[in-house]
Amino acid sequence: MIFYYTRTRKTQVAAQALHEITGLDLYGLDADINNDTGLRFAFRAIKSVISAKGCPVGNMPKAVPGEIYLCGPIWAGEMAGPLKYFIRNVDVSGTKVHLLLTGRQPSEQNRERAVKVLTQAGCQPGNIYLIATTGELPEQDLLVEQLRTIMEAAD
Ligand SMILES: Cc1cc2nc3c(=O)[nH]c(=O)nc-3n(C[C@H](O)[C@H](O)[C@H](O)COP(=O)(O)O)c2cc1C
Repeated sequence: MIFYYTRTRKTQVAAQALHEITGLDLYGLDADINNDTGLRFAFRAIKSVISAKGCPVGNMPKAVPGEIYLCGPIWAGEMAGPLKYFIRNVDVSGTKVHLLLTGRQPSEQNRERAVKVLTQAGCQPGNIYLIATTGELPEQDLLVEQLRTIMEAAD
């Protein structure tokens, strides 16, 4: 199963590319922070990454399978608040969690932080895929190619 959170749809395109490659079902996580704009959004977004609680997801699944992909944006160097909330509020103990993070300039430091968050939640960190995004929505076909290459290298 592929769980994803997106605000400006870039991660959504990446999650769809992942779905095309793996054939796994997609589950979009809804977060009320998506109704905020401007300064209020910026404030809540930063707060959500500083706090271990993250920020609320309205449609949390009751349970997750033993291996999942979790996709979302990087905010201020960390996985976005709704992803942190997801990790903290669903039972992921023993679950293998692969992460796909999108960001303007993803870094190795982002990867290390993300692994820490996963480990603290008691799950088994899987592969971490970092996808660089621009101001434009990524093209699905290009992303499928790029992701395939990254995934093959990680195996
Ligand atoms: C509040 C905020 C903080 C961000 N911080 C980072 C960052 O630290 N590093 C980075 O690479 N991208 C950062 N970005 C850019 C987003 O991660 C990037 O645009 C992402 O692909 C958006 O995904 P989405 O369209 O699925 O919401 C930030 C964006 C926002 C809104």
